[in-house]
Amino acid sequence: MDENHWFSESCAQAFWDQKEGGPYKRLLSDTVGYAAPRANERWLDLGCGGGQLSDGLWHASKGTIQELVCLDCAAANAKPIGALSEKHAKGNSKLFHFVHGDFSHGLDSFPDGYFDGVISGLSISYAESKDPVTGKYNDVAFRALLKDIRRVLSPTGRFAFSINVPNPKFWRILFQSLNRDLKIRKPLKLISNALKMQAYGRWLCREAKRGRFHYLPIDQLTARLQDAGFGNVEHKLSYANQAFVVRALPATAKGELRRSA
Ligand SMILES: C[S@@+](CC[C@H](N)C(=O)[O-])C[C@H]1O[C@@H](n2cnc3c(N)ncnc32)[C@H](O)[C@@H]1O
Repeated sequence: MDENHWFSESCAQAFWDQKEGGPYKRLLSDTVGYAAPRANERWLDLGCGGGQLSDGLWHASKGTIQELVCLDCAAANAKPIGALSEKHAKGNSKLFHFVHGDFSHGLDSFPDGYFDGVISGLSISYAESKDPVTGKYNDVAFRALLKDIRRVLSPTGRFAFSINVPNPKFWRILFQSLNRDLKIRKPLKLISNALKMQAYGRWLCREAKRGRFHYLPIDQLTARLQDAGFGNVEHKLSYANQAFVVRALPATAKGELRRSA
């Protein structure tokens, strides 16, 4: 495999400060809004990064969530998740439990139907695999991950996630972050990390173009979700229009879902 920056500490750290930007705050609230966590539920946060979504789930459930597993391939993310655990979990090892793992290899360590919800922020598109014969990147791991997410969800579970649109313009997110958040606490640090994120963004777009990462039009994404066993899929644009926020329910789940613009 080619180098994967997501495993590195410096890449992980560059994304921790994203939370200061307006487009990211909107993305976070859109995703947690779709998740709508309830008391005593078990949730999995895939590609948790600094744990913003997990923190959002905890707050949205008013601290009544039962279990919160935070999985990421960058070991460095254990630190912010540990800090959240100290802040909120107060010794409850099931809350803000960090798992160092690579979802390109599936979710084998979790039993069928275990979670009430899976949440993921701008992460699942990085499930990567190569054709063993041609050596070319393909979407086998991405499709397998969607199936595994369906497998670990209970029949009444929810999958709420964000994913970048095709050819995302990362500079638009930076521009809107600076434009709307002039009262930010550490602007120089934010700018330095934002520039690093632009560089990682160029790498991500290059790799997406060669089929390694998966920034898909919404109809293709919906088709893959349906193939994986999801029936009700709704979406909206967020993150300065550079990401879809999606909610997908297992095909067996009953209930009408509203269409969002
Ligand atoms: C753009 S960041 C988003 C972080 C966080 N979800 C958020 O919303 O702030 C993408 C995250 O996906 C993680 N990631 C990428 N590839 C992964 C993989 N194969 N397995 C597990 N995590 C992965 C990265 O380490 C990173 O934390």
